[in-house]
Amino acid sequence: MIGIEPMKNEDLAQVVAIERLSFAAPKDEAVFRHDEIKYLVANENDKVVGYIGFEKIAGEIHIINMAVHPDHRGKGIGKKLMEEALISKEVVFLEVRVSNLPAQKIYEHFGFKKVGMRKGYYQDNGEDAILMRREPKGQVTND
Ligand SMILES: CC(C)(COP(=O)(O)OP(=O)(O)OC[C@H]1O[C@@H](n2cnc3c(N)ncnc32)[C@H](O)[C@@H]1OP(=O)(O)O)[C@@H](O)C(=O)NCCC(=O)NCCS
Repeated sequence: MIGIEPMKNEDLAQVVAIERLSFAAPKDEAVFRHDEIKYLVANENDKVVGYIGFEKIAGEIHIINMAVHPDHRGKGIGKKLMEEALISKEVVFLEVRVSNLPAQKIYEHFGFKKVGMRKGYYQDNGEDAILMRREPKGQVTND
């Protein structure tokens, strides 16, 4: 049974471990302590198996990052995290690597549309980002 809850201090080490398993250029632990960024974690049997971080900027929600532990991917946990993060009525935007097709698929599933490109956005390898945006009236589909 997967539960989605706000991140607690004692979840931090597990969240950082998932970040390191998930990204070639993982974000520093300080990002996860950032007051302005709200994190939700997915728990299974008292273990953190995924997280999503988002920030409110000028009335819009910006999704900062999301990851699911590699051993637990493909079971709908990413979708559950997105559903919780998208409960609010605000416009939501995010950047995603052009190479990250699984993430683009999940975002498209939730009604995000490609609205622009950010050239050389990622500092580790100079990769471009696709800017995606979801209007509040966009319907969340669960199929
Ligand atoms: C992106 C990520 C969070 C998805 O989490 P997940 O729990 O595996 O995703 P789900 O099982 O909920 O799948 C949701 C949808 O994502 C897409 N998806 C997931 N894995 C995929 C894959 N390997 N290839 C293509 N699409 C994929 C599908 O559209 C899927 O919906 P479907 O099962 O109805 O086809 C996970 O793959 C991950 O942690 N990746 C590494 C970190 C990352 O890239 N984060 C996003 C950028 S910040």
